[in-house]
Amino acid sequence: MARGGGSGFGLQDLSRIARAQGSYLYDETGKAYLDGSGGPAVFCIGHANAEVNAAICRQLDSIAYAYRYLFTSSALESLTEIVHRISGHCFKDILYCADGSEAVESALKVALQYHAARGLMTKRRFIARQRSWHGNTLGALSVSGFAARRRAFEGSLLDVAFVSPANAYRMPEGCTADTLVSHLAAELEQTILTLGPDNVAAFVFEPIVGAAGGVVPAPPGYAAAVQAVCAKHDVLLIADEVMCGAGRSGTWCALEHDGVVPDLMSVAKGLAGGYIPLGATLVSAKVAAPIVSEHGAYMTGHTFSGHTAACAAGLAVQTIIERDGLVERARSKGAAFQQALRGSLSKFDEVGDVRGRGFFIGVELVTDRATRAPFAPDRGLSFDIGQRAFADGLICYPCSGNVDGAAGDTVILAPPYNASDAELEEIDVKLSRAVGAALASK
Ligand SMILES: Cc1ncc(COP(=O)(O)O)c(C=O)c1O
Repeated sequence: MARGGGSGFGLQDLSRIARAQGSYLYDETGKAYLDGSGGPAVFCIGHANAEVNAAICRQLDSIAYAYRYLFTSSALESLTEIVHRISGHCFKDILYCADGSEAVESALKVALQYHAARGLMTKRRFIARQRSWHGNTLGALSVSGFAARRRAFEGSLLDVAFVSPANAYRMPEGCTADTLVSHLAAELEQTILTLGPDNVAAFVFEPIVGAAGGVVPAPPGYAAAVQAVCAKHDVLLIADEVMCGAGRSGTWCALEHDGVVPDLMSVAKGLAGGYIPLGATLVSAKVAAPIVSEHGAYMTGHTFSGHTAACAAGLAVQTIIERDGLVERARSKGAAFQQALRGSLSKFDEVGDVRGRGFFIGVELVTDRATRAPFAPDRGLSFDIGQRAFADGLICYPCSGNVDGAAGDTVILAPPYNASDAELEEIDVKLSRAVGAALASK
């Protein structure tokens, strides 16, 4: 199976997919796979939804795509309207693109353009966090603290300053739960001061770390604290919600939980739920104003920005999410699901932590619950679990390197927001079975 969180993508010997329905995929042999992680947290309303497919077909029958810089469309306008509403009217503009990396790349570029429009051409540097993942384009990769995925490109990446992850399970030396947030805020401020506030454009972070951390929600108060530091030094706050956003963590914007509205926000995976590639960068009024008045338009965009059929897919997915109350469902069912997982995995001493929010849950494996020491990286424990689960008909998302870039084993679960109770139960049973078998094979 593909090594989602690892250093490469093994595309050999893959099962050949035939079809999917709801939470299940079926390969050409007829074997069923329950999608316990939405691939990499993508399929938020399941597969082959008849309403979404019909909306895409209707769009294709009229026009697949009219170039965004010549035409608007009702699909794009209606999607924009629903995203503004569902994200709490916190943003002014929505810039569409095709995926998460482009959404992050656009956020970085809009941040630079914002400062340029204000005549602040020295504000060019970015600060990001270790153990983070923001995407594969050079800019997005540059702000990613993910050693294995950066290694082959070192030397050509932007000069980004990295600060500590906000991880209550793995705190920096000398921190306690009570001092963690102030320690991290002070570290960010010191980094800004070291670089010189006149040189720093933005701080970029995942409100809940995905692949690089195995679902790590920031501790309470962290987002507000880093927002205050950024505001003090005229540094923009970019929230990368490509994985944790669009309702996955039980609020449409993950940061809503923290009461924080960022200056820029990227979304992708759950926006069109995997039906057609679609991402977006949401821009606050503060950032939009000087850009519009000085430059007239955003200097980012691609041939397929705002692709009409992709917008129709996004509109159908978001309409279903809003109409069926699926964000609320992810919140309430997710809490119960997490509780159930914690119960069934507690029999394994090696399960150190079960955490997350909504339908975005991470399981971390350790050699010793007290010391939280990781397994040796060459054991490949998380991928062993992923492979055993896959063989048993469960798709989960194994990740490695969350401790120091090499060691650390986590498994992400991110079921569709409309997964049934029976499906959640099946995920629980099959994950426990895979964890048990992988641990027993020591
Ligand atoms: C938080 C985050 N940002 C950005 C990306 C990049 O998105 P994409 O793979 O769609 O380019 C990902 C992908 O996993 C992600 O998890």
